[in-house]
Amino acid sequence: RQAVILDCDPGTDDALALWLALASPEIDLRMVTVAGGNAGLERTLPNACAVVGLAGAVVPVVPGADRPLRFGMGGGFRGDGVVHGADGLAGIALPPGPPPVDAVAADAIRALLRPARPGSVTLVGIGPATNLALALATEPALADRVAEIVLMGGAWGEGNWTPSAEFNAASDPEALDILLGAGRPVTLVTLELTAQALVTPARVAAMRALGGGACLHAACDILAGIPPSRRLGGEGHALHDPCAVAWLVAPELFHATAAAVVVDCGAGPARGRTHIDRWGRTGAAPAVTLPEALDAEGFFALLGGRLARLP
Ligand code: BDR
Ligand code: CA
Repeated sequence: RQAVILDCDPGTDDALALWLALASPEIDLRMVTVAGGNAGLERTLPNACAVVGLAGAVVPVVPGADRPLRFGMGGGFRGDGVVHGADGLAGIALPPGPPPVDAVAADAIRALLRPARPGSVTLVGIGPATNLALALATEPALADRVAEIVLMGGAWGEGNWTPSAEFNAASDPEALDILLGAGRPVTLVTLELTAQALVTPARVAAMRALGGGACLHAACDILAGIPPSRRLGGEGHALHDPCAVAWLVAPELFHATAAAVVVDCGAGPARGRTHIDRWGRTGAAPAVTLPEALDAEGFFALLGGRLARLP
């Protein structure tokens, strides 16, 4: 079992990623930290509590950043309200969960890492990378406790927030840059990978047919409430964040490559773009693992099967 800190901004797909982590015995979910992102922190924090609560889990949920390290996103984090709705969960009201911990995410992450053995805690980031970056930047010696860093973020090509950049990377490029340079193995689950986890009405129907409890029901309602993506040809939408959790739980569903990655921290139109050096043109070491092919049927079978085990 891998000890995991999961940093999120729920967020429709974040909710499913949390449930997948909570339902997976391969993962020992030690803490959930929350940033603003898909909505403001005043929404993403209670959403995270509600998602954890619906699963009947006892995991600390800790509030973190509601703005990026430097600038952008109009000062605070904000989603577009299209994919995640104004409430961050596509309008699916969940019963309120247990209250969050009275702490700050970066402090809580450091406190968890400090007594941990070297290489024993995996950091998973499925929102703006601010909380994880703050924790490591303020006490860099703690990086050796980290086994690996798995992030949903970035893209080989076109973005989904700006023409150049994916939403999480665009939300806080400086934070992503800190994690890429933290000296620990990084896996980047990009838009090209998550486009393969295409949610279609048929796949939602198949998940619903599994029965399950309140979590699986809510997950299907959430998925059914998200409009199809024009970027993906209108056939469905991409289930981004659960791919990062699935990478830990079932790596056999993926084929991965490695490359050097640099994130654009400039103020221009390419801000947040991830430059992925597939052919080694820069001479930089291919340090980042990049899952590039997904067994989509296997992925949805895993997701449905695991969520069906939850209350
Ligand atoms: C990422 O941005 C958010 O909208 C999703 O939750 C996911 O983490 C995809 O670009
Ligand atoms: Ca997210």
